[in-house]
Amino acid sequence: MCGIVGYVGRTSGRADAGHTALDVVLEGLRRLEYRGYDSAGIAVVADGEISSRKKSGKLSNLLAELDARPLPESLTGIGHTRWATHGGPTDQNAHPHLSDGGKLALIHNGIIENFAELKLELVAKGVEFASETDTEVAAALLGDIFRNKLGGDVSDGGLTRAMELACQRLEGAFTLLAVHADQPDVVVAARRNSPLVVGLGEGENFLGSDVSGFIDYTRRAVELGQDQIVTITADSVTITDFFGAPAEGKEYHVNWDPESAEKGGFPSFMEKEIHDQPDAVGQTLLGRSDIHGKLTLDELRIDPALLKSVDKIIVLACGTSAYAGQVAKYAIEHWCRIPTEVELSHEFRYRDPIVDANTLIVSISQSGETMDTLMAVRYAKEQGAKTVSICNTNGSTIPRESDAVLYTHAGPEIAVASTKAFLAQITAAYLLGLYLAQLRGNKFQGEIKDILADLAKIPAKIQRILDNEGQIKELGEAMADAKSVLFLGRHVGFPVAMEGALKLKELAYIHAEGFAAGELKHGPIALIEEGQPVFVVVPSPRGRDSLHSKVVSNIQEVRARGAKTIVIAEEGDEAVKAYAEHVFYIPETPTLLAPLLATVPLQIFALALATAKGYDVDQPRNLAKSVTVE
Ligand code: G6P
Repeated sequence: MCGIVGYVGRTSGRADAGHTALDVVLEGLRRLEYRGYDSAGIAVVADGEISSRKKSGKLSNLLAELDARPLPESLTGIGHTRWATHGGPTDQNAHPHLSDGGKLALIHNGIIENFAELKLELVAKGVEFASETDTEVAAALLGDIFRNKLGGDVSDGGLTRAMELACQRLEGAFTLLAVHADQPDVVVAARRNSPLVVGLGEGENFLGSDVSGFIDYTRRAVELGQDQIVTITADSVTITDFFGAPAEGKEYHVNWDPESAEKGGFPSFMEKEIHDQPDAVGQTLLGRSDIHGKLTLDELRIDPALLKSVDKIIVLACGTSAYAGQVAKYAIEHWCRIPTEVELSHEFRYRDPIVDANTLIVSISQSGETMDTLMAVRYAKEQGAKTVSICNTNGSTIPRESDAVLYTHAGPEIAVASTKAFLAQITAAYLLGLYLAQLRGNKFQGEIKDILADLAKIPAKIQRILDNEGQIKELGEAMADAKSVLFLGRHVGFPVAMEGALKLKELAYIHAEGFAAGELKHGPIALIEEGQPVFVVVPSPRGRDSLHSKVVSNIQEVRARGAKTIVIAEEGDEAVKAYAEHVFYIPETPTLLAPLLATVPLQIFALALATAKGYDVDQPRNLAKSVTVE
């Protein structure tokens, strides 16, 4: 996800600090590269003007541009690495975006949900837009307020006051940083549901998406609250809320080294990404429905009439993404009543599948580059099918070649084994299912609104699991010598069981299998011997009762044969305690949404076990993040 840096140094103190805005901002952007990005840009204030440079691609492209067209020396600057969401990764869409006749520069991380409405308003006032981004709309709004509402008056807050008024109009998630040529010694920033930290220096102050943005210069940081604005100069840091009322930040000392700062202080990217999951789900939900619960999937540009005529859905994916598809199948069929198959991409096109113009192909791919999935999508298109891509990587090949795309907003996933992308994929596939149900009239608007409300509660519930991860971590560490672990689940718990097993294979190189609990008696039960660890994903007792009691019977069957049972169950399910060596509780949620919670303890277990064995969890042996060969 986007990286943000801001800096103000003191003119007279320059000799002390010895930093220019360009040095500090570029170093910060380099440190924030780990967040993943596809373009970068910088703006400085010097000689009563804003000067900015921006380039798609890696920082080296921006550096080459700066060599060719150097920026003037300056002590006030902002910089940005962009992970494309609204609009492809082009030079034009890169940040900063300018307004107020080029005197104001703005960078942004997040999604402005009401940008379309604001854009119409600004266009009516004669504002012209050069990019497809929501950010340019925020820049224009801020510029319009500064110039037309406040008359460009910098004596009474100026840019800070304009930022307050702009934030009062913005909806969604955002971190914004702005500089203005008429206030050369100031960077103003705002935050709502997106990250921002302040770095405190001597005669200089910093802003960053996280502390890596300034860790080379200071270890004193200030954490901001939600809906706060911070104005930094070389000597001051002033925090207010969106209405100008004074607010406080919390100062803390950063004791991470620069390398662990990139991992948010976690020992591995995988652990960080597991902890990113509340955000991955939250961001994927953001901006996709209006206040009435009506889904508005703008990226889904297929004629609604075509979607109404769909009589079959085939989900194509590989690895973890295929398990996300298997979870989604239960929900899509239940909500839309459209027969849904899930097929491994590499099997699909070699079996002469039945595909026609009424078939909707939904490909799921974190990278958007998996060759097996790409070839399967191409094949389906040749057969006349309509194709929708669920993807985490803006502008990658699969979404580009598909008729429509629904991006997951999990942010870059660096660890090879997928975690946060999985939960984001399920979330996006659910949104697609609800959208189809809405379009085809399978569900009342009120029912869709209720499901969206339940989905909106998922991030906080994941956070609760993460806050109590100690118990499952301990079990993972204690089981470092396990030779084989089995996973059982029914209904949506079945793909969760398979994903739990896959994580263990990938990270800890242990034999692990996920089975449908009902299939146990048809074969796998022969594997059970004294002490065999078996994870069981137990459905909610509040759901279809028979489902819960059937799984409880399955637990008894394996226990009777000596298995050591480890149960993932819903809070309040006391009945399972009698049958389990260990019980890990997850918060209550409707059955179809439970995979978004039940998967998390299984990821933590695999991570802890592999770490105890001393393995590199970010780069497991023999695996690649993106498999671009068939
Ligand atoms: C590789 C990765 C897996 C991933 C799979 C599909 O095998 O190691 O973690 O699930 O590819 O990748 P995709 O990018 O298409 O989701």
